[in-house]
Parts: sequence; C-alpha cells; structure tokens
Amino acid sequence: LEVGRAQRRASWWVGRRGQLLARAAEGTPRYVYDLETVREHARVLTGTDAIDRCYFAIKANPHPAILRTLVTEGFGLECVSLGEIEHVFANVPGLSPQRVLFTPSFAPRHEYEAAFGHGVTVTVDNVEALQRWPEVFRGRTVWLRLDLGRGEGHHAKVKTGGVAAKFGLPLARVDAFLDAARAIDLRIGGLHAHLGSGIDDARHWHDVYAQLACLADRIGTVESIDIGGGLPVPYTPESPLFDVALWRSGLEAIKADYPRYRLVVEPGRYLVAEAGVLLLSVTQVVDKDGVRRIGADAGMNALMRPSVYDAYHGIHNLSRLGDEDTLEYDVVGPICESGDVLGFGRPLPAATAEGDVLLVADTGAYGMVMANTYNLRALPAEDVIE
Ligand code: LLP
Repeated sequence: LEVGRAQRRASWWVGRRGQLLARAAEGTPRYVYDLETVREHARVLTGTDAIDRCYFAIKANPHPAILRTLVTEGFGLECVSLGEIEHVFANVPGLSPQRVLFTPSFAPRHEYEAAFGHGVTVTVDNVEALQRWPEVFRGRTVWLRLDLGRGEGHHAKVKTGGVAAKFGLPLARVDAFLDAARAIDLRIGGLHAHLGSGIDDARHWHDVYAQLACLADRIGTVESIDIGGGLPVPYTPESPLFDVALWRSGLEAIKADYPRYRLVVEPGRYLVAEAGVLLLSVTQVVDKDGVRRIGADAGMNALMRPSVYDAYHGIHNLSRLGDEDTLEYDVVGPICESGDVLGFGRPLPAATAEGDVLLVADTGAYGMVMANTYNLRALPAEDVIE
C-alpha cells in the first residue's frame, strides 16, 4: 500500500492531464478532487484494528462528495461549528449522529445547545463553560479536550497546545474540571487531545494515547480516547513520506497496553490534500528588474496557504508538461498585496504564455475552504473526478 502511494504521489493528475485541461477550459480558477485518492488514503488509516473510529476533520475539505466517500469508507465526521454540523447532516443522507463529533473552540452557547439537540458527541475544553452554562451541560456526557502542554506542527500558527494556544484544558486544571462536572452531574465519556497540524514524528500519537490513557484510568468513566489529527503530507519533493507503518505499529502496541479504551483519530489533511489540485490560467508573464514572474488568474484569494504559512505547493504548467527548457519564475496572483505569491523561483517552461493552464498540487486540504473574495474576485469552481 505504501509503495503504491509513493508511486502515485504525483501521478493521478499526470494520468488525467487531458481531462483536467478540458475542465480548465470550462473556467479557472478551479479545484478538482480525485475521489479514488481519497479512498486510498482512507484505507491506509482504516487498515488496522487498533483504531476504533476515524473521524474526518471536515474543516480540511467539506465538499459533499468527499464527505460521502469517507462516510462510505466507515469514517465519522468531526465538526467545529454549527455550520459544519448542519452541513454534514444536509449532505450525507442517513448520517447517524453517533458518527459526528463536535470539537468547537470558544463557540457561543447556542452552538453547544444545538449540538446536544442533534445528538452528536460534544467536546468541552474549559471549566468556565460549565460554570457559566450549567443548564446546558447538566446530566450530559461530554469529551474533555486537554492541552498536554506542548504544541506540534508545520508552522507556529497551527500548533494547538501549550501556553500560547487557546485550545484545551491544562492538565493542572483537570481536578477543577472534574469538580465542576460532578456538581452538575456531567459525565466525562472521552478524552481528547489535538496538538497541531502537520506533525512529522510518527510516534507522536502513541505518546498522546499513553498520556491520555493514564489520565483516563484515574477518571474512571472514560470510554474513548481521541488522539487528534495532524498527520503530515509530503508537499515538497524532498519531504519524506510519512511512516504510516510505524504510526500504525505504535498505535497497535499502545492499544495492547490499554485495551479498554476506544482509540479515536481525527485527521483532515492526510485524507484529502494529495487528492486535490488547483487549476489556474496564466494571465501575463513579466520580467521586472531581472525577476521573472508568471501571473495567474487567482493567488492568495484561492489558496491562502503559501501567504499565511509560507507553505510549499508544487506548481506545474499542465499545458506544457514535460517541456524541459525551463526558467525560474515567481508565480503570483492578481491580488493587490505583495504577499500574493504562490511559489518563489519555480522552474517552469520558458515558453509559458498567456492562457496556459497551471496546476497547483496537493491543494485538496485547506484550499477551497479557506478561499475568499478579496478584491471582489470570484471564488474558484470545484469539480470531482470519480
Ligand atoms: N482536530 C482538530 C481539533 C483540529 O483543530 C484539526 C485542525 C484537525 C483535527 C485536523 O488536523 P489535520 O489532520 O488536518 O492536520 N489551515 C492550516 C491547518 C489548520 C488546522 C486546524 N485544525 C493549514 O493549511 O495548514
């Protein structure tokens, strides 16, 4: 499976060049998702008995076809807002509330009430919510989201643990939370920790489970342990492939040590990033003071990741794939900000010209869902390839 993945890494869209060019002819900017790639990644995660439930973090890509594909693969859906909860029930026919997890951050009171009303599993991460809204939580069962005191991930802005992060109950506050819970007959049915996004160390999740399981032993009512998402994607040509085998064997070992808890994971990026491409059209090619730039018909408005996190995405000229006579270009968008750069110094065909189709790779996660209408530019279109 891993070998298959490595071989296919850059290739699903190479094999579908004609189809993608035809889609681009219908208009760009345009995201295209390959559902077979989503399935492939899903099966890597579900291929172990150690994991009892995988939730897809829909914030990465809430496209209805992707949600339905993953639910068919046995996944649940993790939502962070009432909007996401309503979206999944509206778009996945017959979805059971037991398959939905609500993991909000600083959400308003009515979203907790509505989530309980939908019958989904609700995560809480502070004592203040229980003290301020006892009637919302009285007699319920919730999962407790913890801050294990450290954050991890590909960029400071996606680390979700430690003093600087707004998420999670610090371990030092657990006793206070248990007291507040007892006072309103609130039961802790699960423990949860998500320390960040794009974590390269495959042993991270093993360690989180071990830490949460020790705490669960002390609490006594815990059934589920959710060790978060955060699995990385090899965005750059040099990125090592994530060692899924090591990840899996670590979870199998720790599950054997603490077999009485349901092991839960909630990845987003890993499932969908490589399944998506962003198609753009070249607008202008300009040489200014010795810097060559290729302009595209969308930039940071369609894909924020490079400007927000200095993220790398491969960029290819789909109209001239394989053209080896290349020059280095910065690839920029049409937005009136200097940060509107999708890639610096990229080797692209010297013949690149207006109307060529550019493909921005690995954009299936946190792409379309973070797109915006800045400068009053239209949102990208979206297509799915079955
Ligand atoms: N669970 C929780 C509670 C989360 O906050 C997140 C992501 C996930 C799961 C899924 O994480 P993943 O498996 O996708 O790494 N926009 C940023 C990523 C923000 C992640 C926010 N939380 C980016 O484009 O890199």
